[in-house]
Amino acid sequence: MHRYRGTTALVTGASKGLGRAYAQELARRGAHLVLVARSAPALERLASEIRAEHHVDTRVIGADLSDPAGPTAVAEELHRQGVAVDLLVNNAGLGSVGPFFTRPLAQQVRSVDVNVNGLMLMTRLIGAGMLERGSGGIINVASTAAFQPMPYQASYAATKAFVLSFSEALTAELRGTGVHVMAAHPGATDTGFFDHTTAVMDAKRTDSPTRVAAKTLDDFARGRTASYPGRPLFRASTWPVRFLPRTTVTRMTAGLNRHMGFHEAQDVGTPAG
Ligand SMILES: NC(=O)c1ccc[n+]([C@@H]2O[C@H](COP(=O)([O-])OP(=O)(O)OC[C@H]3O[C@@H](n4cnc5c(N)ncnc54)[C@H](OP(=O)(O)O)[C@@H]3O)[C@@H](O)[C@H]2O)c1
Repeated sequence: MHRYRGTTALVTGASKGLGRAYAQELARRGAHLVLVARSAPALERLASEIRAEHHVDTRVIGADLSDPAGPTAVAEELHRQGVAVDLLVNNAGLGSVGPFFTRPLAQQVRSVDVNVNGLMLMTRLIGAGMLERGSGGIINVASTAAFQPMPYQASYAATKAFVLSFSEALTAELRGTGVHVMAAHPGATDTGFFDHTTAVMDAKRTDSPTRVAAKTLDDFARGRTASYPGRPLFRASTWPVRFLPRTTVTRMTAGLNRHMGFHEAQDVGTPAG
């Protein structure tokens, strides 16, 4: 059973949503923290809240993980401060919703940059130290979207399929090294994920970030290689692709996303980043 107390955890995308919940839950369990995202003021506010409530060391590093220079700057700053990370929570992520050809391309490219390239670079740069020390852990936040193609969230689901495949492969490569990798697959979670779009989640069918974070950390502590931290229905939604032809599942998913109105999704206000 992995213990969090006294270890140092780095959480990406900690400024809001699930990342904020992971940071709070890790602090509650006694882990020291490094909080990473672009919004340094939001991270500083969270760090102050955490320091006031818990006796844990909490540091903030502002970085844009869509830029390859971002993960490098984080690794250099950790080295400069002499901080060794025991647990990396690769949570930062974003997606685009709507038909691929009519939605802004920049948001989709940025999603690949953060969800795929940023996650891979952070894993390599921070994981290398763990491998040298022969101990550590990495939680990669994927999604139930990782398991099947998702029309109207096409590029987003593809980034999460990368996270699933990459994490499973690393779990096997690192067996016996003392470094444990787990992929987490939340379903719809009540965060600002769809802020600045007309898409909305069905409030009756979303999980709370706090519960999702706690369940993820419980699963990691038990040495699981995959975590399904949402309600059982979300886990069951990953099964049809095992039994049905992929084209059938993709058409079913297209129907569900049309039902949610995702085929008509538009941006409103200022898109993130
Ligand atoms: N909410 C859901 O239903 C759901 C379901 C399954 C999986 N997930 C996954 O859970 C993770 C967290 O999502 P969320 O729902 O909590 O979304 P969110 O509320 O929008 O938070 C996203 C986080 O990612 C950070 N981020 C975005 N772009 C970044 C960049 N270029 N560099 C550094 N950090 C960046 C944001 O911080 P800044 O804007 O300050 O940079 C923010 O802290 C994502 O990987 C998402 O795919 C979410």
